[in-house]
Amino acid sequence: MIDFQGLLNNIHDDLKTREDKGVVASYIPELSKQDVNTLGLYMQHIDGRSFSAGDAFTPFSIQSISKVLALSKAIAFEDNKIWERVDVEPSGNPFNHLSLLELENGIPRNPLINAGALVIADILVTHLENPKEDFLQYVRNIANDQSIKYNFKVADSEERTGFNNFAAAYLLKSFNNLNNSVDDVLDFYFHQCAIEMSCEQLSKAFYLFANGGQCMQGNQHIPIQQAKRINAIMLTCGFYDEAGEFAFEVGLPGKSGVGGGIVALLPNNFILATWAPGLNPRGNSLIGMQALEQFTSQTNLSIF
Ligand code: DON
Repeated sequence: MIDFQGLLNNIHDDLKTREDKGVVASYIPELSKQDVNTLGLYMQHIDGRSFSAGDAFTPFSIQSISKVLALSKAIAFEDNKIWERVDVEPSGNPFNHLSLLELENGIPRNPLINAGALVIADILVTHLENPKEDFLQYVRNIANDQSIKYNFKVADSEERTGFNNFAAAYLLKSFNNLNNSVDDVLDFYFHQCAIEMSCEQLSKAFYLFANGGQCMQGNQHIPIQQAKRINAIMLTCGFYDEAGEFAFEVGLPGKSGVGGGIVALLPNNFILATWAPGLNPRGNSLIGMQALEQFTSQTNLSIF
């Protein structure tokens, strides 16, 4: 029997003292207020046990981690039809890269880069009656936690400075790959990214991906085959131009966000969420990646 609690404590204590903790994101001004010394870890086992260390219960900006939750909701609405508008190939490029989008006629490489996430946001704006309220309710339901909220300051901050996303949205629109207005899609997307969740809440929300599409409350949100596909996309695209490195070092499907969060999971086994706001040059949490590497190396729990 693995001593998960002891392991999380050791990883936390080791990484907390590291000198190089990366750099907090500043291109969304509101995120630059985060403390680089924060470190939270939360592990949810599929059998119901859970373990935590550090700042595991403090909500933070989930940013791109939200793209996986949005993708699952879009799949629930349109199933495999979404793949007519977004591909499933790793991009090998930064999350906000635009040149491939033009070369590939407005079909984003995958749903986890920004351009792909905007197409997914467009699908949700089409299907949800009150997009922002209904999406937040979905996230609350799958995490079984009604306290989850938007941080409107973060959404406004990105709305004022998100020029690259405006460019992506207009490019998608020019290729007829956005059905709703650019403003409506971006407003939804900036709010989706500005949801705040703790490591605990993220682990519980991602339980459904580790559990064949069924959340902790026993509701089937997506078919088991689609949970498999979402995990495959997280593995190959979840860390953008660092997806290879994450598979190499950690060996799990996962997703990062520029708020410093990472959620990774081993299907039918566990979900582990980390929060450490300092990012590496590729926009992924530096200490979070090291924590996950230590965890999978020391437990031998990975998909490989
Ligand atoms: O669209 C953006 O740039 C941000 N709202 C999200 C980017 C992000 O989290 C990239 N992931 N590491």
